Amino acid sequence: MQMTDLIAKKRDGGALSTEEIQFAIQGYTRGEIPDYQMSALCMAILFRGMDDRETLDLTLAMMHSGEMLDLSPIRGVKADKHSTGGVGDKTSLILCPMVAACGLKIAKMSGRGLGHTGGTIDKLESFPGFVTGISEQRFFDNVNRIGMAIAGQTADLVPADKKLYALRDVTGTVPSIPLIVSSIMSKKLASGADVIVLDVKCGSGAFMKTPAQAEELARSLTRVGRLAGRKVAAVITDMDEPLGCAVGNALEVKEAIRVLRGEAKGELLELCLTLGACMLTEAGLAEDDRAARRMLQQAIDDGSALRKLREFVEAQYGDPASVDDLSLLPAAPIRLEVPCESAGFVSHIQAEQIGLVSMHLGGGRATKESAIDLGVGVVLHKKVGDRVEKGDSLATIHASDEKKAREAVELLRACYTLSEAPVEKPDFIKAIVR
Ligand code: URA
Repeated sequence: MQMTDLIAKKRDGGALSTEEIQFAIQGYTRGEIPDYQMSALCMAILFRGMDDRETLDLTLAMMHSGEMLDLSPIRGVKADKHSTGGVGDKTSLILCPMVAACGLKIAKMSGRGLGHTGGTIDKLESFPGFVTGISEQRFFDNVNRIGMAIAGQTADLVPADKKLYALRDVTGTVPSIPLIVSSIMSKKLASGADVIVLDVKCGSGAFMKTPAQAEELARSLTRVGRLAGRKVAAVITDMDEPLGCAVGNALEVKEAIRVLRGEAKGELLELCLTLGACMLTEAGLAEDDRAARRMLQQAIDDGSALRKLREFVEAQYGDPASVDDLSLLPAAPIRLEVPCESAGFVSHIQAEQIGLVSMHLGGGRATKESAIDLGVGVVLHKKVGDRVEKGDSLATIHASDEKKAREAVELLRACYTLSEAPVEKPDFIKAIVR
């Protein structure tokens, strides 16, 4: 078999066979197929697409490229959740303790942030002492004992995706549905959960810019998951503005804790109720969405979700007192307000740019090796649809460096667009695909 034949076949619109897909993935993972040939194949896939059988074969070939987690030592239905990536997305920190408090087992592998998007693993490290690199035994024990564990992805899990994602990132081949589906689902399938719930982001801060593209991605993700024998649901949500108000690691942890305390509501809580309801119903722990939402709301109201977070932090060597006393979490020394220069209604906030402002302050990484400052970031006070008067603060910058803080004020102001006429907030939950 020759890689040049596979590239030409896909370039001309043909469907690759199971063996051809396995040949390309195995050869690339072993270093036998060079980057230039693999990038040509990715570009051909981006333009020509793949049918369901090819996408499933690609996903399975990637899944088999490394170790797979066997979750059988964990008793009960195991669930996992994945977001296609966004700004201010602290959902896992809220959702996982909520569903674990309702009896579902969460065995989750998460990643670090890269570029303008954050990662759950970095956010969790805001809890003093928290360890994300726990042993497999401790991971299983924690899920059996308290119902949840979140660990960093090991290097051996889907090595094909590590190489391919880095290649796609520099060859303009990220926004291809079969490549995104195989990248996400190979990792989720290799992580072993029975139930997988996906949060597919849609809008200017997401890979999928339109609801139609997001729906196509959601349908393909759920189809591949089902064909691989898992229970899968996807929720399409708005990412035209950051999720919630905080962007930056410890700031997002603080916002998540406020939601679990019942102090913050809005779209963030709504998203967790929607994703959580999908998880509980798919797992058979709730009869329908209404019953599931009642269970989840009860877990907030009676404090059991917050207690679950405390247990989880302690079980991974973090300081549980930091869940109750937010002053124990990292904080930046400098605070600057971003005053609005005119009156009006907020019509748009550039989510991706806000993520870049947080990165500029030191909250994100330009490369995988960069160190990050957990305390810095941005807290938005005005969201799309809000009325603002001249001089109102649009946001607070949390920084460790005066010069960067002043630069961030200007950058952040430029992220906001105002209109004279009132603006209707778009629907936050766009669709649920089951
Ligand atoms: N997230 C992934 O893990 N892979 C993609 O290709 C896109 C988003």
